[in-house]
Formats: sequence, structure tokens, C-alpha cells
Amino acid sequence: MKYILAFDQGTTSSRAILFDNAGQMGGVASKEHRQIFPSSGWVEHDAVEIWEAQRDVARRVLKENQIDADDIAAIGITNQRETTVLWDRKTGEPLHNAIVWQDRRTAEYCDHLRQEGHAASIAEKTGLVIDPYFSGTKLRWLLDQIPDARERADRGELAFGTVDSWLLWKLSDGQLHVTDVSNASRTMLFNLQTQSWDEDLLNLLEIPASVLPEVRPSSCVYGECSPEILGRPIPLAGCAGDQHAALFGQNCTKHGMAKNTYGTGCFVLMNIGDEAVSSKCNLLTTIACSGEPKPQFALEGSIFTAGSAVQWLRDGLGVIESSADVMSLAESVPDTGDCYLVPAFAGLGAPHWDPYARGVLVGISGGTTAGHIARATLEGIAFQVADVLEAMSEDAGLSVRELRVDGGASVNDLLMQFQADILQVPVVRPKVIETTAIGAAFLAGLAVGFWKGIDEVESIWKSERVFEPSMPAADVSRRRERWRQAVERSRGWQQ
Ligand code: G3P
Repeated sequence: MKYILAFDQGTTSSRAILFDNAGQMGGVASKEHRQIFPSSGWVEHDAVEIWEAQRDVARRVLKENQIDADDIAAIGITNQRETTVLWDRKTGEPLHNAIVWQDRRTAEYCDHLRQEGHAASIAEKTGLVIDPYFSGTKLRWLLDQIPDARERADRGELAFGTVDSWLLWKLSDGQLHVTDVSNASRTMLFNLQTQSWDEDLLNLLEIPASVLPEVRPSSCVYGECSPEILGRPIPLAGCAGDQHAALFGQNCTKHGMAKNTYGTGCFVLMNIGDEAVSSKCNLLTTIACSGEPKPQFALEGSIFTAGSAVQWLRDGLGVIESSADVMSLAESVPDTGDCYLVPAFAGLGAPHWDPYARGVLVGISGGTTAGHIARATLEGIAFQVADVLEAMSEDAGLSVRELRVDGGASVNDLLMQFQADILQVPVVRPKVIETTAIGAAFLAGLAVGFWKGIDEVESIWKSERVFEPSMPAADVSRRRERWRQAVERSRGWQQ
């Protein structure tokens, strides 16, 4: 068989990508889905629309590239994490729109959990900070708000899942209600030490165990895709949250190796080996996919707004026509003119965790142009990444030697050079920047023997360009100090 088919179900689109044995892309198809904003700070998706989009792009990528389903050795799934779906086991219909990871509706309940003194035990068990970001409080909200949901859950009629679970259910025609360890680790209900759902947390959040999926490794044969979907049954053999898949796709399988994905947000992950070190700097401890039998862990810094700040320049301010134009607009000025943009549009994630922070643009003078604002937007993304990496190095007790990058905005040379300058370490961009999808493909391919072992998949990764730092250290310190002042101004604005 010639290909692995990777499904990359992200926040804004669903994609299907074919990878051959050499890790080359054999075709890609994608489709966007609606973002639904029912009220301020709330974000929803239609789970049926997502499923249909994912199914349609899978069919399209085969058709457009004239590839037969018989040529597909396995399917690997990677997905936007934390987004929460609750559905009826009998009809397969969702009871509500999916509540998206960015949604802040449970902020007050999270405050309450913190005030009750649960932060330390939740961090110890799950590796997470208490925040509306994670699925647990979203699921609780659904069970509380949908009429009869709790009674129906108690009768075993309902199923909860993150997007991976939902897709595996639909792909298997309701035969599979499973998730993988990486997605489970983002629910705030999963115990990293025991690698299972945590009874105390289920009780605390009032989540009935009957709704939960079975948790399996990220690389294993879960079951088969029903023949109606692509014409024949195909093994469903890999599954991981998108950032975990990207860490694996970037070959960050050794202690201290780190990657950042520039997507809607930015997600920096560093492999920390087989010990689930707790963060002292407000980072998350999470699962790292690996070829090892023993669980491996990573530190994560989740930044909520990155690429979406560039979208705001396009759709909100109208200063660029397409996101790709941001680089030439930013290059129209030599610097930001001492302007700083903190893109805390959906609060601040790591290392600040302030759901009440909002965006700030500071330092504007009569001479400030759209070019300065565009440049400050790109720099704001890079400063956030630098804050996270600084915290990570402190937690892990080591300095990062290089940062591997991927995701849409990693093609932006200006941003990558500034990132290297402000970090003072090389930034390495690989040849295949679809590292999320290739990570999922690796997980599936390893499970069915398409690739023989970790060494074989590791030999596929190649660097395309290295950005070396060139900014004088004094300049870096001055700019970072100005940035810190700007961040302080953004905090607590919505409280
Ligand atoms: O934790 C949220 C993350 O998984 C979303 O990733 O690439 O869909 O923006 P992305």
C-alpha cells in the first residue's frame, strides 16, 4: 500500500492529506467550517458540519489524486483539542453545538474552583491549571444547561468526546467510543500518573463516568473505518491532539527538544522525557507521543491569539487583503516605532492565565502607520513565544538549544528572524511544515507497520532553513522589558 491518510481537523478547517513512505505529500484537500459566536467570549462549532467536512475532504483528496482506497494503509487523526461534543449514542446526533477550546463561558466556575482551593490538586493530577480552556468545565456546563441531559447521561444514553472521539465514532458508524491519551490529558479529568480518568475529579465536576470514552494509546489500531465512507474498511490507527502530533512530527522525541506551531494560537511544547515534572511557572504538563512503551511527557505553553491577530488586521482593521500581505506591510517600516501590541483578544494563556485580559496597542504617536501596527502584531506573537520559552527553560532546568517551527505563519521570514533574535537561539523550519498531519500519519503508519520503527520516521525529518539570532543582547533586553510593561497594561481589563 502506498499511502497513509491523515485527517487534520483544526479550529478553522478540516483537511485530509496523503503521505507516502518517504513522507512526501501525495495530495491535500481542505474545507473551512463556520465559527459561531453566540455571545461575548463564547465560541461554538457545528459538530455535524465538522464531521461532514472531514468526510468530504477525505473523499475529495482520493478522487482528485486518482488514488484508490486500496492504496491507503491506515488513517491517522489529529484534531483541535479540548473542543467538547456531547451526543446521543442511539441517533449519533449532538445535543448542542460543540463548545470550542477558545470559549470562556465557564470562567466564573473556574474562579470558584480556584477559590475552593482545588488548584494544587488539579495541577498535580492533570498537569493543568484551572481554566475554561479545558473540556471538563465545558462538559459540566452542557450537562447542567441541556434539559434532561443529566438524567439521560445517568441512563447511559449520552456520549462525550473531544473532536477525535467524535470523528472516530462517526467513522466507525458508532462502533468506537474512544480517545487517545493526549486528547484525554486536555480534559482536566485525566490523571497523568495513573493514565486513567480520575474519580475524584469526576466527582468534583459532577461528570458521570458513563459519558466518557475509553482511553487508548496514540499509536494503535482502534478499529476500522466503515466501508461506506471511502469504499472499503481502512484501519483507524493513529490519533493525537494536534499539538502533540506536531511535537512528534517535528521529531522532538528527546528530552529538551521544543517546537512551536504558529496557528490560530501558538503552542510551544518541549519534550521532558518520562517524568511528568510539574511546572512552577504556570505551564502545563501534558503527554508527548513517542515510540517508547513508557509514557512520555511534555511541557506546554498555550498562547491563545497568534495567527488570529493577523486575521484581525485583515478582517477587523482591513489594512491587508490577505494574511500573506502582513509581511510586506510590516517590512514597509524599519521597526515598530516603539509600539507594542499585546493580542490578548481572548484573554492571556500561558504563562499569565488571565481570562479577563484584553488586547492592548500602546506607544501610538501621530506618526504611527498601518505598517507599524502590522510589525507590532508580528512582534507581539514572537514576544509571547519568548515568554513561554523562558518559563519552560526555568521549569526544565535547561536552555532550549533551538526552536523547531511549523504552522501557517512559519513561512513568514520576518517573523521567524525576529523570533530567533528575541529568543537568542536558532529557529529551525523543516521542509515539511505540515508537521501536525505528518505526526498523525507517523502514529498511524507505525501502528500498521507502514514504517518499521521510530528510526525510520526520524530519518524523514529535514530542515529547510535555520534563522540565526543577530540582534544585540542589549536591544533584546530593552524590547522585552517594554513588552512586559505592555502586558501589564492588558491584564484584568474585562474583570
Ligand atoms: O488547544 C487548541 C489547539 O489544539 C488548536 O489548534 O491548530 O486548531 O488552532 P489549531
